[in-house]
Amino acid sequence: MLVTKLLGLIILIADVLGDVHPVIRDRRQVDACSERPTYGERRRCAVKDGVKQLLQKRNEDWSWGERVEAEAIIALHLAKYKVFKKTKASLYISVKQMNIDLLSAVSKDNSLTSKEWGRGKLAYYVLGVKATCQDPRDFYGHDLIDKLKNHLIVSSSYLDSNKFDYSLILIALCKAGEPIDTHNLNDISTTPGYYTFGVDEASVVYMAYHCVGNPTYKKAEDAAFNFILQAKNENGTFGNEYSTALAVQAIFASGKRTLRRQTRTGIDYMVDSIGRNKDPFTSLLLSVLPAIARKSLLDIGSWQCTTPEQGTTTPSTPTFLVAITVFNNITAIDYDRTWSATLRQGQTLYDALVNLNNTDSTFSFKSETATWGQYITSINDMTASTDDRQYWQILGTDGSPLQYGASQTFPSQGDKYTFKFTIW
Ligand SMILES: *[C@@H]1O[C@H](CO)[C@@H](O)[C@H](O)[C@H]1NC(C)=O
Ligand SMILES: *[C@@H]1O[C@H](CO)[C@@H](O)[C@H](O)[C@H]1NC(C)=O
Ligand SMILES: *[C@@H]1O[C@H](CO)[C@@H](O)[C@H](O)[C@H]1NC(C)=O
Repeated sequence: MLVTKLLGLIILIADVLGDVHPVIRDRRQVDACSERPTYGERRRCAVKDGVKQLLQKRNEDWSWGERVEAEAIIALHLAKYKVFKKTKASLYISVKQMNIDLLSAVSKDNSLTSKEWGRGKLAYYVLGVKATCQDPRDFYGHDLIDKLKNHLIVSSSYLDSNKFDYSLILIALCKAGEPIDTHNLNDISTTPGYYTFGVDEASVVYMAYHCVGNPTYKKAEDAAFNFILQAKNENGTFGNEYSTALAVQAIFASGKRTLRRQTRTGIDYMVDSIGRNKDPFTSLLLSVLPAIARKSLLDIGSWQCTTPEQGTTTPSTPTFLVAITVFNNITAIDYDRTWSATLRQGQTLYDALVNLNNTDSTFSFKSETATWGQYITSINDMTASTDDRQYWQILGTDGSPLQYGASQTFPSQGDKYTFKFTIW
């Protein structure tokens, strides 16, 4: 510490005198990042300083605000911190802040389907949870994966017009190890080679396909990638800093080392844009840091969460009961029976049926996976039939039919649901 200070002093004096000893000059260039002689050095210095700037942008409560906690944690993860160690409290506190942000949102809206969260936001938080070695399936007892999948259904009309957010959700599910339905993979490129939001969209679409790696979609994957490469300007950028960052991420996600040179001038451009003299916005830092560090969203969580004490297990929430009534007065057998099903906070009504099926021999059901979620086909051997125009209608606590299916409904303590055998 003292030596560094002394050295700094010597450099200062030497600078003033205008006569720098060659050894000291070398030290200065490596240490201070003030003069960046080579491209590599310049790049590495920009990452280092960008991370510092990002950490300095935190508010008094150690957060960045406006629901960008996850994006900030992801940027730090990809640029520098492979693992967020608990021993580094001044950094780890921002992981906690991300958790608080998400928990606070869940406490207001358990399904997280509000406009703010029902788009790409939750995808970033799921990725942030992954990046910090936490389990998105059990985040303080909440199943974030169920909620995210739910978005594919309840936000489908929005996502159909925004393949950027759609692909982001698929990337988050893919990174969480979830299988992706083929209809979702079809959806993100209805016209391969056409992208409403240009390079930005092509980049995330490409990363989604590349993450899933389904050979059936190789053509759509290649179309997106070629679109990115062709969008490169003569000056080496792919548009503004944000677009360039996404394109560069996609190129690194591809793992094609021969294309690295294609990113150099783009990276130079981003390095310039986050110079301290430019006082870059937080959003710009979040966007360009991973790309300058030559990483992509697909690198999230690819470093091992080594020992348990480095990861985080969040405490589970307690369980509660909901009432499930099965009612049928339209076939020969009249049926009216009620059970109490156990549920953890954040589980769906469908989970309640599964829990009941697993614990109570007097209850059984069957369901099919449809594009809009789980479709209940049969309860206690009373089977829905298209020919007889019979189906299981689900009524909520207030007696009116549910807006969405059982797998999109998040019950609360004391709710009552009726599965009513009905003719349409
Ligand atoms: C690079 O070229 C594009 C297209 O010619 C232009 O719009 C953009 O402003 C240029 N960017 C820089 C940083 O020179
Ligand atoms: C079935 O029960 C409903 C009340 O939930 C009633 O309105 C209806 O008339 C009954 N149908 C038959 C065929 O008994
Ligand atoms: C219900 O439980 C049985 C075993 O008791 C199992 O075979 C079946 O798959 C379960 N059904 C559902 C929908 O989970």
